[in-house]
Amino acid sequence: MLKPAARIEQAVTFQAMEVTKQAQTLREQGRDIISLGIGEPDFTAPQIVVDTLNKASAAGLSGYSPALGITPLRICLADYYNKEFGTNISYEQIIITTGASGALSLACLSLLNHGDELLMPDPYYPANFNFILCSGATTKLIPCGPEERFQLSAEKIAANWGANTRGILIASPSNPTGTSVTPEELRKIIDFVKSKDGFVILDEIYLGLNYEGEVKSGLTLDKDILVINSFSKFFNMTGWRLGWIIAPKDFIPHIEKLSSSLNICAPTLAQHAAIACFSDEAMQIYRERKQAFKERRDYLLTELARLNLPVPVKPDGAFYIYVDISHYSDNSMDFCHRLLNEAGIAVTPGVDFGPAWANKMIRISYATAIDRLKEAIARLEKFLPTIK
Ligand SMILES: Cc1ncc(COP(=O)(O)O)c(C=O)c1O
Repeated sequence: MLKPAARIEQAVTFQAMEVTKQAQTLREQGRDIISLGIGEPDFTAPQIVVDTLNKASAAGLSGYSPALGITPLRICLADYYNKEFGTNISYEQIIITTGASGALSLACLSLLNHGDELLMPDPYYPANFNFILCSGATTKLIPCGPEERFQLSAEKIAANWGANTRGILIASPSNPTGTSVTPEELRKIIDFVKSKDGFVILDEIYLGLNYEGEVKSGLTLDKDILVINSFSKFFNMTGWRLGWIIAPKDFIPHIEKLSSSLNICAPTLAQHAAIACFSDEAMQIYRERKQAFKERRDYLLTELARLNLPVPVKPDGAFYIYVDISHYSDNSMDFCHRLLNEAGIAVTPGVDFGPAWANKMIRISYATAIDRLKEAIARLEKFLPTIK
């Protein structure tokens, strides 16, 4: 009889994936389910990226790549960050990973020892708990509310920094809230963490999907932080499993050492194809899609307010809205379960993102076409009076 390791029991379950599984079962039974659960763009890679993939495949470029990734892609990424997000980095600071998931896992494994503690805001991206767990460290969640945009503040980090605390992990814009840390607060956070000789992991996976003016990378504030990013969100390539870490140049060999045995490399054909993401043709498409996301967000914010579903902080990025359901329910699992089964709408319960807001909030992902969002609002309007 196989006996699972203790960490399997300690690991958190990713409810968004569970909701997706249930939604799929209902679809197979012939139900029309609107998917506002999982954080996956409804767009796919632009044609030029697919064509480049096919060419790379035909040319036989499908062997292992260097553990750091192919150099032309690393150069494209450094140029992209320097041009779009105000940084001054070299391609040698970049390692290509299997999505941001692979990047987060490598970051935790490279920085944390057994018994260390990492601070995160609550609400947070739940998979991080498991990356930290697998590194032998522990997570300390700090409840954060609307007054700080559901993000960590320097003050709260200082109040929670303990003897075993080694660093912090934040996503900006965040999942599940779509809210960003202001540059002023991030400056204070980095200064405090550095004063403790700690580290900052900044997950910028939604950078580029910002809807309120120009945004810079956290690397413009400090060159020593470790930045995570991915082709999954802005580039609409979830299943291609490509991401990257930007780290100080002298730290890259440490990550490379682990990655070369844990992964050998990130998918090589996907790496060759991803170079085409930076062509003018693809970038134009991405900019248009970003505009479509913004329109969806604005549509939903108006409609949710009308339906008495408040959004405590207007999201400035990503494709999520963190919605207060307390006028209708004090149990987010039950609310989501009924919404899925009775109205055919899949959303993610607040319990997925930490205990602080577990039952008061749900997450709506608007990575779904506007006509489906309109249909979802019409269904919600009928559903809500039935659960009061
Ligand atoms: C904040 C955040 N980080 C990391 C990931 C993982 O993304 P991927 O592994 O697809 O790049 C996600 C996915 O939803 C996310 O929301």
